[in-house]
Amino acid sequence: MGLTMAGQAIMHIRNVTKSFTRGGEKITVLKNLSLEVGEGEFLGLMGPSGSGKTTLLNLIAGLDRPDTGELRIGGALVSQMTEAQLATWRTRNIGFIFQFYHLLPVLNAYENVELPLLLLPLGAAQRRTQVLTALDLVGLTDRMHHRPGQLSGGQQQRVGIARAIVTDPTLIVADEPTGDLDSRSAEDILNLLVELQKGLRKTIMLVTHDPRAADRAERIVHLEKGQLVDAATLDQLRRQELDHALRTAVAPAGDTNIQRAN
Ligand SMILES: Nc1ncnc2c1ncn2[C@@H]1O[C@H](COP(=O)(O)OP(=O)(O)OP(=O)(O)O)[C@@H](O)[C@H]1O
Ligand SMILES: [Mg+2]
Repeated sequence: MGLTMAGQAIMHIRNVTKSFTRGGEKITVLKNLSLEVGEGEFLGLMGPSGSGKTTLLNLIAGLDRPDTGELRIGGALVSQMTEAQLATWRTRNIGFIFQFYHLLPVLNAYENVELPLLLLPLGAAQRRTQVLTALDLVGLTDRMHHRPGQLSGGQQQRVGIARAIVTDPTLIVADEPTGDLDSRSAEDILNLLVELQKGLRKTIMLVTHDPRAADRAERIVHLEKGQLVDAATLDQLRRQELDHALRTAVAPAGDTNIQRAN
C-alpha cells in the first residue's frame, strides 16, 4: 500500500514540478513528485485544501503542463504533446468528472453526454449508440431528455459520469465527485465508480476529502507539501510536526526554569 503498485503501470509520473506565480510571488505546488498507477487500479488521492490535488489532475489530463518532469500515460508522453495533439488525446483517453458536474444548462442529458463525441470522427449512428450505452450504464435512460436543472444533484453527477465514459477512455479522473452530494447519492456515485473499475476495467483516480469515499479505493496516496506520501509516512510526518509543536511551545517555559535554577 505504498507509492508503488503491483502489475502493469498505465501511468508514470516522474519528478514533476509545478509552480504558479501570483502577485509576483512564486509558489511551488508540486515538488519533484513521482507516482505510478497500475492498469485497472482504483487510486484515492487525498490532501489538505490547496495542497495541489486539482493541479495534479490537470497535469494528468493535459489541461496544464508541468514546469519540469515527465508524465507518461498509456504509452503517450503527455508532457511533450502540442496543444492540438493534447486535445484529441484527452478526448480519447481521459474521462474527467467534476465536483460541480460542469454540465451545459441549455442541453439535455443526452446532448451533454454526446458533447465529447463531437470532437471525434464518428458518424451519427455510432454516436447515438455510444451515448445510449453510457446513459444506460449510469441508469439514466429514462431521464435523457431532461436538462440539468430538472435533475437532482446525484442524477446530474451521473450525467457527468456518462459524459466521462462515453468515449471509452482508459483513465477516469474524478475531482471530489461526491463533495456536493448527500450521503445516499454519494454512495451511488462511489458504487458506480467501483463498477466502472471492476466491470469495465477502467483505471480510476479519485480525489476526495471524505475518508469513507477514499475507503473505496484500493490504494490511497496523500499530497503533502508538494509530494505524495502513503498513510504510514503521513502519520509519521504528523507525529513529528506535533512533537516539534510541543517542543517549541514548551521551550520558553524551559528557559525560565533554567534562569530560575541559576
Ligand atoms: N492557475 C493558477 N494560478 C495561480 N495559482 C494557482 C492556480 N491553480 C492553482 N493555484 C494554487 O495552487 C495551489 C494548489 O491548488 P489546487 O487547486 O491544486 O489545490 P487542491 O488540493 O485541489 O485544493 P482543494 O482541496 O481546495 O480543491 C493553491 O495554492 C492554489 O491557489
Ligand atoms: Mg481541488
